[in-house]
Amino acid sequence: MIDDILERQIKGKTVFKNRDALSPHYIPDHLPYREEQIEELTKTIAPVLSGKKPENVFIYGKTGTGKTSVSKFVARKVKEFAEKHGIGVEVIYINCRMHNTRTNVFVKIAKELRDGENFLGLPTSYIYERILDEVRKRNLRLIVILDEIDMLKNIADTVYSLNRANDELETGSISLIGISNVLTLKDRLDARTKSTLCQKEMVFPPYDAEGLRKILTDRAHIAFRDGAVDPAVIAKTAAFAARQSGDARYALQLLLRAGDIADEEGADVVTVEHLERAKEKVEEDIILDMVSQLPLNQKVVLLAIAELAEKNAGMRLFGSGAPVLTSGEVYTAYTQLAERIGRDAVSDRWFREYISELAMYGILHVEQAGKGFRGNTRLIRLKFDPQKIKAVLERSLLN
Ligand SMILES: Nc1ncnc2c1ncn2[C@@H]1O[C@H](COP(=O)(O)OP(=O)(O)O)[C@@H](O)[C@H]1O
Ligand SMILES: [Mg+2]
Repeated sequence: MIDDILERQIKGKTVFKNRDALSPHYIPDHLPYREEQIEELTKTIAPVLSGKKPENVFIYGKTGTGKTSVSKFVARKVKEFAEKHGIGVEVIYINCRMHNTRTNVFVKIAKELRDGENFLGLPTSYIYERILDEVRKRNLRLIVILDEIDMLKNIADTVYSLNRANDELETGSISLIGISNVLTLKDRLDARTKSTLCQKEMVFPPYDAEGLRKILTDRAHIAFRDGAVDPAVIAKTAAFAARQSGDARYALQLLLRAGDIADEEGADVVTVEHLERAKEKVEEDIILDMVSQLPLNQKVVLLAIAELAEKNAGMRLFGSGAPVLTSGEVYTAYTQLAERIGRDAVSDRWFREYISELAMYGILHVEQAGKGFRGNTRLIRLKFDPQKIKAVLERSLLN
């Protein structure tokens, strides 16, 4: 088996021409079915070219509707155009999942403006002043894209202080593009933040099957060798993803996984059968991605469960053959693990809460134990491969 894999690698047999073109970070030169949004966003930002401050924009819509791609695409075009004409425009993209406090956002902006200089640990007010210095000095029209802005711990403070900067700037300006997958975020914002951030609003609707088919067809031409994808695969992927929620990222990921499976088999063409198997893989990708983003305490609880499940420590119930664990043994394992990695274990009450949350995310199956068990015992089963969950958690807990 190993020889087979290595052999294929050396022969370089693959259905892909450019596999990276299917990664979520790849931005194609054409974004079909988003022409209107591209035009509207361009019109909104365009005033920077005549030295005006653009309105702040709030963009929202479900996952995979092209919000990030369209924003980066338009920002890049505007910047390239400005550079050609010697106009000082800077666009800074920030994913608030990674930079989730006002200080982190400021650090990121300052670092980008000052060539990678490190501002970590310095007072927020100092960093803020350095940003203003830079904008003034370069008479800069600065556009800050705050992607996944719902992940910011203090949206109001961040938005307000970046916007207020304009009152202190005699030259240059700062504008914001806030992006969110959370459709109800606007209702959660206080009136002042709302009126500041949402000077202009754009909604990105989900793609229908036809839109997805066009997106997938275009991308398949870039990513796969000619004739390496059965046309029925594109149509089926589009139809399936449209039924799910019109998420282009999901559709592209299905295509990527189907291609991987075809390669593993040494097939010449990606078939509908590969696609069917890719669905399970993608399901797993999504779960693993979610696991890597859990809060720290949940991660430790889940790691304890994965370790136990791997050791097959539990009884076998539910007729599924998967190891079933009792809440008691999981709690014991959890406290031991916490000690081993030098963290305080949370109380039983919080532990129960975390178990419920993990069940809600669909990672665990949990049910109340019946007769023959002690009081509040719950039976817990990990719904995914313990080894894979463990690998993801160990990687992210070590970081
Ligand atoms: N109109 C489009 N044309 C081509 N690819 C698209 C389009 N919309 C989305 N995509 C692709 O789908 C994936 C998800 O898009 P993204 O912009 O990240 O969505 P969102 O930010 O709304 O979640 C990306 O890989 C992107 O390249
Ligand atoms: Mg996005």
